[in-house]
Formats: sequence, structure tokens, C-alpha cells
Amino acid sequence: MKIVVIMGGTSSEREVSLLSGDNISAALQKNGHEVISIDTVLPIEQIEKPIEVTQEHINQGDKNLLYLLAHPEIQSADFIFNALHGGSGENGIVQGILQTLGYSFNGSSAEGCTIAMDKVISKMIFEKNGIPTPEWLYFERNGGMDYPEIIEAILQKFNLPLVIKPGHEGSTVGLTIVENEDQIQTAIDCALQYNSVFLVEEYIAGRELTVSILGDQALPIVEISPLHGIYDYECKYTNGMSEYIIPAKLDPALNKQIQKMSVKAFNLLRCSGYGRIDLRLGADQQPYFFEMNTLPGMTKTSLVPKAAAAIGLSFNELLEEIIHLGRNGKK
Ligand SMILES: Nc1ncnc2c1ncn2[C@@H]1O[C@H](COP(=O)(O)OP(=O)(O)O)[C@@H](O)[C@H]1O
Ligand SMILES: [Mg+2]
Repeated sequence: MKIVVIMGGTSSEREVSLLSGDNISAALQKNGHEVISIDTVLPIEQIEKPIEVTQEHINQGDKNLLYLLAHPEIQSADFIFNALHGGSGENGIVQGILQTLGYSFNGSSAEGCTIAMDKVISKMIFEKNGIPTPEWLYFERNGGMDYPEIIEAILQKFNLPLVIKPGHEGSTVGLTIVENEDQIQTAIDCALQYNSVFLVEEYIAGRELTVSILGDQALPIVEISPLHGIYDYECKYTNGMSEYIIPAKLDPALNKQIQKMSVKAFNLLRCSGYGRIDLRLGADQQPYFFEMNTLPGMTKTSLVPKAAAAIGLSFNELLEEIIHLGRNGKK
């Protein structure tokens, strides 16, 4: 097949996307495909002769992407492998363009991505359907409340520590574990740097788990033991900063229940193809689901490839399965 791998982009997860994209491109080439790799911030003239990306390119936003995808050279591709993470690559905007132009591509539809990217909407859907999620509140920047009112509402509902995070961001960017009252306002400002909506959640002390979904199946659960208290940016992307236990050592009934809930959540958020849901197992032995990732990391050491390896699926085979699902699955 002729496959175009799109990567980089303008989101806060740009660097991770470049790693995923390079890995995917190399593996697809090895699998015998004709591969064109594209950093989506580069101008159309640079498709064949890539130049060094500058901050200026990134500041221009996603305008180039639109022209790139409409380019005849790209339109003759059999498949677009979207290796973007976060931002427009994962929130449904790029998927909408791909669908409009009639491409087959990996992962969820525009609709699924938009729903899953929004932590507020996701949590509402979880709550309505018996998917346990941490107790929470959410506020909008222009929601008509000032800081003292917001802080009072937060303290009325939660004990410390609590968690403040942006409404739709990834890689633990903009997230603060608030240990004392004085930190609340700074944590809010930090989250608001990324989105106009932020969430406040009860802090779940417990084991960090993640469930990969491939097709309509949950892969073996991965337990993560991050060196820092939480699975933050550094622990996610630095070798040796986290330990992984695959499959997680869980009571078989609980293991099955978490996998079943994960697939249910995947379907409720209208995701398809593959994805990965993050959760913690509380000290009360209850799972608390955080969020669904519709374009999870795809470096060789990323979590979905690790989970796939646990059922004997190599990285290269996993990519072929994702392509198969993208070409044949319903969106
Ligand atoms: N309510 C919470 N209680 C405890 N830890 C949390 C909570 N929310 C997030 N975390 C920690 O922060 C990480 C990132 O949070 P998550 O909601 O998955 O956002 P992101 O989109 O940034 O991955 C989690 O994997 C977990 O380690
Ligand atoms: Mg997460």
C-alpha cells in the first residue's frame, strides 16, 4: 500500500508525535509499504524536500495540513496513518478533514475523537452509564464566577489533596496535584493556559492502570509504577522513569470487570479501531476511570505496543491490524 504518515503538528505533544511517527514510518516500510512521512507544519512545497521546522512554522498553525491533505500526491495514497497526538490531530478536526476528503485512516472518527478528547463530556457519559470516575467539578473561564467563589465551591466539595487539570489536554500537561489551599489559584491559572475549561477531581491514591483496546477487545491491562507520585510528562517519556507490569497482577474477576468496563467506555464514547483508557484502582479496590486516548503513543516502548506484545502481537503486526481496522471498520 501507499501510506502517508502524518506527524508533528502544533500541539503540546508535538515531540512525542515525531517519535511515534518515525517509528511507525520505519515499521511500515519494513512491512513492505511505500511510505511518505510528513511533518504537518511544513509548507506544501517542502513535501519532497523537508526543511528544518522553525517556531514560525509551528506558529502558523494547521493551515498547511489542509493543503497537504488535498495535494494530488497525497490523495493517491491508500491509507493515512495519523501519528499526531493531542490538539487538532486527536480532537476530531484532522479526522473531519480526512473523512471529508474520503481517506481511510487509523483510529476513531471525528465524532469519537471529539467526544473522547473532552474530559468533561467523557465524564458525564461515564457517570450516566455506570463507569466509575473520580468525583469532580468543572468550571469555564467565562462561567461567571470569580476566584474566591470558585475556590470556595472547590473546598466545600473536596478534601485535599485534589487534582486540577485542563478540560482537554494530554501527557499530564497543565495538571496539578493540589496539596494545600494556597496552591489552588495557581493550579487553576496553570490549567487555563491550555483550555478555557478546567476540571477539579478528588485525588485517587492507588495503582495506576491503563487498558488498550484493539478492535472490540481489551488487551491485557498494564500497571504503571511511575517514579514520581503520578504518571507525569517525565515519567511518561523518559526511559527508566516508570516500571511496567504486564499483565497487571489483579484478581481475575476484577481484571475482567475492568476490561469489560473499558470496552463499554470505548463504545459509549463512540471510539473505533483502537484506543487506550487511563484509570486508577483506588485503595477501596474500585476502578476510577480518567480518560480515553484515541491516538495513544506508538513508539516501541509505548503502552499499547506493550499490551499487544503480551498477546504475542509484534509492533509491526499491531500496525497492520490497526490499518486493517481503519480500512474495514465502521466509523
Ligand atoms: N483524580 C486523580 N487522582 C490521582 N491521580 C490523577 C488524577 N487525575 C490524574 N491523575 C494522574 O495524572 C495522570 C494524567 O491524568 P489524565 O487524566 O490521564 O490526563 P492526561 O490526558 O494528561 O493523560 C494520570 O495518569 C494519573 O497519574
Ligand atoms: Mg492520561
